[in-house]
Amino acid sequence: MTDKHFTLTDPESGTETKLNRYDPTLGPSVLDITSLYSDQGVFTYDPGFGATASCTSQVTYVDGEAGVLLYRGYPIEQLAEHSNYLEVCYLLLHGELPSREELAEFDKSIRTHTMINESLLRFFNGFHNDAHPMAMVSGVVASLSAFYHDTTDIYNPEHRDIFAHRIIAKLPTIAAAAYKHTLGQPFIYPKNDLSYCSNLLRMFFAVPADEYEIDPVAAEALDLLFILHADHEQNCSTSTVRLAGSSGTSPYSAIAAGISALWGPAHGGANEAVINMLEEIGTADRIDEYVARAKDKNDPFRLMGFGHRVYKSYDPRAAIIRNMCHRVLAGLGQQDSPLLEQALKLEEIALKDEYFIEKNLYPNVDFYSGIIYQALGIPKSMFTVMFAIARCVGWVTHWCEMVADPNSRIGRPRQLYNGPAKRDYLPVSERN
Ligand code: CMC
Repeated sequence: MTDKHFTLTDPESGTETKLNRYDPTLGPSVLDITSLYSDQGVFTYDPGFGATASCTSQVTYVDGEAGVLLYRGYPIEQLAEHSNYLEVCYLLLHGELPSREELAEFDKSIRTHTMINESLLRFFNGFHNDAHPMAMVSGVVASLSAFYHDTTDIYNPEHRDIFAHRIIAKLPTIAAAAYKHTLGQPFIYPKNDLSYCSNLLRMFFAVPADEYEIDPVAAEALDLLFILHADHEQNCSTSTVRLAGSSGTSPYSAIAAGISALWGPAHGGANEAVINMLEEIGTADRIDEYVARAKDKNDPFRLMGFGHRVYKSYDPRAAIIRNMCHRVLAGLGQQDSPLLEQALKLEEIALKDEYFIEKNLYPNVDFYSGIIYQALGIPKSMFTVMFAIARCVGWVTHWCEMVADPNSRIGRPRQLYNGPAKRDYLPVSERN
């Protein structure tokens, strides 16, 4: 509780309402408006939730002005440099870094939950081979709720734990099955002696007819990208998972809802859209034309991979990926990447442009990630699936936090109705 408050006065009636002010560990304070409707008979209006805290959370902190991102208090730069994806998963899920034993146990559990039921594999045959992998993955993840009847009590922490391990372990297997389906190649079963990202690369690129050698540079690059994408507090897909999950639905369905939300080009789908845009621009001499289009209010075109609801400075994740691009591309023997040159040039031009400066539009996490995915041989249509695999742990962590919170209620926003007032039905014979 708090003794700090704001007082809101209705200028017509003079009625006063005290709104409690809560101070966070970091970031701006929030006003508790839950009594506003009962006291004053008004709602608040905030389309896009730009100024509304929808929950309390202890998971991730973003300072958009300073370009700071913390997972459970740890700066993303330190985690990117010293940690690995599975350790970050443990940190997000449990709130603390694991001991050596805890990490070994967690790693073993994830490695031994990678298989999916054979019937699930048959689901893929129902899709055309040109189906977008995000459509297949969200559909198959939703159908996982038809398989795990042993752990459906969302209020049982042990059931939640089993769910968390299952979905984190199985999502790469499902993603790889979707990819193999688009190629018409046989599915490659997971191999539990491999690390999370090595296993994923093998399931994507191995074929039964040949030996497959995992490139450690590729596995390391993927691991780093996954750390950067693991969570980002109450973004569109995470809020979707929370909202869907708030009804008490199966957590697999809530995660499927998150995957669907992530797919949009304003969110995780931007990584695919960035490469499409860079390819469409084609040569450096056409960049000015596209920058001009992005600034034109009458043209719906936007510079994909630029801008962010929260970051009003350089997205720290984009900075890390930008720095790793040269090293990873060199490690993969692809130092001359025309796409990277194009992206760097576009960034340079945009960041000098008054429009982008004035609106604080900087490259976001999706601007450079596609360049690395492409260098790893991952096709564009799979980029957002990679994002979904990495973000899965964030969704699960937020879902668990919400379900375990005794103050959680079903999400049910209100509205500013501006449709017709009440009117009487007219039989069709009486209508003009
Ligand atoms: N290119 C040109 N203009 C832009 C861009 C852009 N990429 N982004 C924002 N603006 C302009 C926008 O037109 C608006 O101008 P005005 O104030 O004159 O109307 C102003 O900047 C503010 O934009 P907004 O759309 O009100 O901001 P938002 O917070 O609602 O949207 C965004 C954030 C990320 C959806 C948006 O910046 C965008 O569409 N970016 C391109 C898509 C993209 O890269 N998405 C990935 C986001 S980061 C990863 C993730 O979330 O998954």
